[in-house]
Amino acid sequence: MSNPDSQFTRRFSIIISLLVVITIALVFLSRGIMDITPTADEPAARAPVAVAAATASAAPASPAGTGTQAASAGADGQTVYQQVCALCHAMGIAGAPKVGDTVAWGPRIAKGKTTLYDHALHGFASKTGMMPPKAGHMELSDASVQAAGDYMVAKSGG
Ligand code: HEC
Repeated sequence: MSNPDSQFTRRFSIIISLLVVITIALVFLSRGIMDITPTADEPAARAPVAVAAATASAAPASPAGTGTQAASAGADGQTVYQQVCALCHAMGIAGAPKVGDTVAWGPRIAKGKTTLYDHALHGFASKTGMMPPKAGHMELSDASVQAAGDYMVAKSGG
């Protein structure tokens, strides 16, 4: 009588240990997935840091601690242009004179840099559209906006 009983116990314990093994395998599998997820997020999380580092190294002359944003601290015209002004001025969106379009820039450049600076800093609207004061980025320093203006003018025949 004890023989079939012990046979059942043996089979039952084999099944139990199989289930335990499967459970452990599942735990490790889910840990693996949990490990993968933050790794996949990493490039996205690192990207702004990389951009900030690139911006900082692109503007070595900017005094340290003048602002939280590299673009507002540094007077690197190209960086400010790419980050802010290109939105309209790269493609000539909303009536903005396109960078490189010497015909569109000619009469504007003829007004003189002081006028162009003034219009970039305080806004300007003629027939073609509306240049917002500091392109709507009031956190930019005057020097940064002027440097971006210089950059655009230099690329447009000025
Ligand atoms: C929202 C779109 C937009 C952005 C962003 C923008 N501009 Fe403009 N900008 C315009 C438009 C539109 C004009 C043309 C206005 C007109 O002549 O009616 C213009 C004109 C200008 C002019 C010529 C002004 C003149 O007297 O003819 C300068 C200089 C200028 N922008 C500088 C900048 C700088 C520097 C930045 C970045 C800091 C910038 N803009 C970002 C839309 C924009």
